[in-house]
Amino acid sequence: MHILHVVGARPNFMKAAPVLAALADRGLHQTLVHTGQHYDAKLSDAIFQELHIPQPDLNLGVGSGSHAEQTAQVLVGMEKCLLKKKPDLVLVYGDVNSTAAATLAAAKLLIPVAHVEAGLRSGDRTMPEEINRLITDRLATWLYTPSADGDANLRGEGADPGSIKLVGNVMIDTLQKLLPLTDRNDLLQSMGVMNRGGLGPFVLVTLHRPSNVDDSESLARLLSALSEIARDVPVVFPVHPRTRARVQAQGLSWGRIKSVEPLTYLEFLTLQRRAALVITDSGGIQEETTYLGVPCLTMRENTERPITVTLGTNQLIGRDTERMKSEARTILSGRTKKGTVPPLWDGHAAERIADHIGTL
Ligand code: UD1
Repeated sequence: MHILHVVGARPNFMKAAPVLAALADRGLHQTLVHTGQHYDAKLSDAIFQELHIPQPDLNLGVGSGSHAEQTAQVLVGMEKCLLKKKPDLVLVYGDVNSTAAATLAAAKLLIPVAHVEAGLRSGDRTMPEEINRLITDRLATWLYTPSADGDANLRGEGADPGSIKLVGNVMIDTLQKLLPLTDRNDLLQSMGVMNRGGLGPFVLVTLHRPSNVDDSESLARLLSALSEIARDVPVVFPVHPRTRARVQAQGLSWGRIKSVEPLTYLEFLTLQRRAALVITDSGGIQEETTYLGVPCLTMRENTERPITVTLGTNQLIGRDTERMKSEARTILSGRTKKGTVPPLWDGHAAERIADHIGTL
């Protein structure tokens, strides 16, 4: 059986790594295609190295562009690639433009697709990722879900119950495996969160969603609120290129925020596991903080990962920066939401995927 994996953007890489390894253990023939959606060293190459992902067999080099441009280029590139490689199964990950486009290309060629991280829904079609999730799950043959809410969403949309497989969270496979490699005092010192007195409390921030950073007023409000929090504790903000471009274009100031270049996976995890609070609009970070038991404030109106709120340490606070400041004060004073780790976020999700593929 020949399995072709498609990855394109940063959050895909941590999901594909354990699946590639589990299938390699079973001796299956695999091909890895990188669409090239993310191409910066820090967003792509460095993560491949840390996660020991093999070099892609092919890079489509699609790069940046409008949604239509990016999606169309992946579609054209994937069609050529699939006609040449003739895989028996295509594995796609998450919800980025590359995921939806690769799924469409394979489905048109009648090649079965398996979607890792199926069934997540925010219910918000203003998010490009929600459109990608709907397209991918509608067309995929196998739907590997990270949590039972995903199964319920898929059944509610009329998916064949036999196609839905609750396997757990592959991101957590990667996190568990790499956590022992995050004792990096040099990094903590260079980020200004550790000194001779030891590690102090700090806030870690990531924001890159169009809903937060594309609107200059909302971005300015967020930066000013974060800068206020930084009066009390260091606020470290590894900045996605999209966010940096908006801050520069609008002439906004970082104030007291420590803005740094995007970090590698291990660098980010080194900070994340020790943060007193994480403020984010990322999907994966909501899950990682829940696993790590670190309080998380999500600057979004909704989440496709509700289990991180019901069971985990996540709180949805919309775009209300006053609320962000008051919740941050509460958490930094030691009053935190306690959470539990969702079922099957146990480091073995990729093995369950490989077990299922082994039965096909
Ligand atoms: C994409 C995903 C998003 C994911 C995020 C993680 C979609 C619709 N969105 O968003 O779900 O959370 O990746 O990072 O697929 N850029 C660079 N270098 C790069 C890549 C991008 O500078 O290597 C800049 C470009 O200016 C580009 C912009 O970032 O236009 C946005 O990149 P794009 O891939 O379109 O989406 P992301 O915001 O990264």
